[in-house]
Amino acid sequence: MYKLTGVTKEYQKGRQVVGALQGVDLTIADGEWLSIQGPTGHGKTTLLQMLGGLDRPTSGKVEFGANGSDVDLAQLREAQVTKIRADQIGFIFQTFNLVPTLSAQENVETALVPQHVHPATRRARAAQALADVGLADRARHLPSELSGGQQQRVAIARALVKQPTVLLADEPTGNLDEGTRDEIIGLLQKLWEDLHLTLVLVTHDSQIARRAQRIGLMKNGKISIRQDTRKAPATPA
Ligand SMILES: Nc1ncnc2c1ncn2[C@@H]1O[C@H](COP(=O)(O)OP(=O)(O)OP(=O)(O)O)[C@@H](O)[C@H]1O
Ligand SMILES: [Mg+2]
Repeated sequence: MYKLTGVTKEYQKGRQVVGALQGVDLTIADGEWLSIQGPTGHGKTTLLQMLGGLDRPTSGKVEFGANGSDVDLAQLREAQVTKIRADQIGFIFQTFNLVPTLSAQENVETALVPQHVHPATRRARAAQALADVGLADRARHLPSELSGGQQQRVAIARALVKQPTVLLADEPTGNLDEGTRDEIIGLLQKLWEDLHLTLVLVTHDSQIARRAQRIGLMKNGKISIRQDTRKAPATPA
């Protein structure tokens, strides 16, 4: 799904240059769940932005694709990156990022606008996506009329209604209590399995990180793999 080679990202802050990514080499397989942990300010969100084509690296390659049709998100024209993002990449965030003046249903529908889906189809798909996250009866509610856990469910429906291949999640349970956190992670795990998503999940929570097949640790703008359960431990003869 992804192959990153020598990815760096520098931010200019006044006269100061911050090296947020300092040479990331990383391969992510189709359908994999990779968790990313690491101390604050060490480049986790910056890495997700590169994976999502929300920003470009200062140097390096971000190859994305399936079936040998890889493209380099670092080099692609902006319109093409936007199209890939609209069709194939779903995002969820710690703060949900719903539009406060739109209902749950309308928030989910916005994800289908760039795809020029017929309005009737758009409504039906958004309603189904809300039902899939257990919120069929909340479609007309505004975000302010929903609990944190429900708002995150709406955000998950919005991310998945376009049927993406990749889901990028940046501390999706950071603002939730423990019980709600477990519900949301349970839902994400089910959707990951059912939809064969490639899931990259940034979290400070070790209990959640451990559910993934691999855990990467971001430190000083570099990633190292700390756990890989895809390789079954050798069984003694
Ligand atoms: N738009 C920006 N302009 C300037 N500096 C930035 C920008 N975005 C991030 N940085 C800097 O890049 C570094 C990495 O930031 P990043 O947000 O990726 O960290 P993080 O690992 O996600 O941290 P946290 O766990 O707190 O979310 C930090 O030093 C941050 O200050
Ligand atoms: Mg972050």
